[in-house]
Amino acid sequence: MKFLKTLGAIALLAASQFTHAQAWPAKNVTWIVPFAAGGPTDAMARDIADKVSRQLGQPVIIENTPGAGGTIGAAKAAKAPADGYTFLVGHMGYMGAGPALYKKLSYDPVKDFEAVFRFPDTPLVMLVGKNSPYKNAGELVAAAKAQPGKINFSNAGVGSTSHLIAALFAARAGIDVTQVAYKGAAPAINDLIGGQVDAMFDQSNTALPQVQGGRLNAIALTSLTAMPQQYPNVPPLADKTLPGFEAATWYGLYAPKGTAKDIVQKMHQSYLKALADKAWTERMAGQGIHLLPEAQYAPDAFAKHTAAEVERWRKVVRDAKIQLD
Ligand code: MLT
Repeated sequence: MKFLKTLGAIALLAASQFTHAQAWPAKNVTWIVPFAAGGPTDAMARDIADKVSRQLGQPVIIENTPGAGGTIGAAKAAKAPADGYTFLVGHMGYMGAGPALYKKLSYDPVKDFEAVFRFPDTPLVMLVGKNSPYKNAGELVAAAKAQPGKINFSNAGVGSTSHLIAALFAARAGIDVTQVAYKGAAPAINDLIGGQVDAMFDQSNTALPQVQGGRLNAIALTSLTAMPQQYPNVPPLADKTLPGFEAATWYGLYAPKGTAKDIVQKMHQSYLKALADKAWTERMAGQGIHLLPEAQYAPDAFAKHTAAEVERWRKVVRDAKIQLD
């Protein structure tokens, strides 16, 4: 009798999980973007959310929760119910470098989240104002050596990729620059255009319209190879100024720990189906976004990548002596 009861309970549990997977998503799904609207994370998330929502058959709502380099939104997502209706758009900063940068981080990128899928990567570009005296990275480095701390770099917040890459660049070039933090790349770019700051590293895809529109000058790339189609005549930093220097931002979708595996799988499958649209992937590639081999987008591969990045950034932050101030 007891055996039959146990069997019945197991059957009921299996049936309820099956119904759960069948029914999800029964309403809007929210993706938290922890930066101001209009920046690279927001733009990438909205583009992917639009395509994924068509596959899911339910709207994906973007909720911008900016502040503290993405850590406020990430902490909110970590505490959200693991019911398949709240996700986090994460990136290399708060989900990779975060644990090395912050002594007290209220979430653990590995233990508090299920990795769902990785987005394509984006290299960065060093930008200066239209009337800037710096025509290339070498001139900017020389000026910073002559007057330590005088050159201001705007960034998307402490621990954002624009902050981290500027810090890495300064460490490798042996210069002191002053970092000015904003609540996202969009307001940081606005002040660069307005001339309140001297330079900024931004994602190459979202910076492109500003450069093509003549509002900003691009003077160096963080990719190892040139991007002649998007940034003609803009050299990689690695070419002359900093041999071997390479950086790109990775992004991806996470769910609070404990979110059902079948929900994670369904979200990932919807993304893969969306990626089958060649017109879309070609448009991304045309903007300089780096598409990855399909296996790297998968939940397991993305979970491993996140864990490896947390370790890599511990060393990078220590070696480059990146400090939050
Ligand atoms: C960053 O630098 O981390 C991002 O550009 C932030 C953003 O998307 O605004």
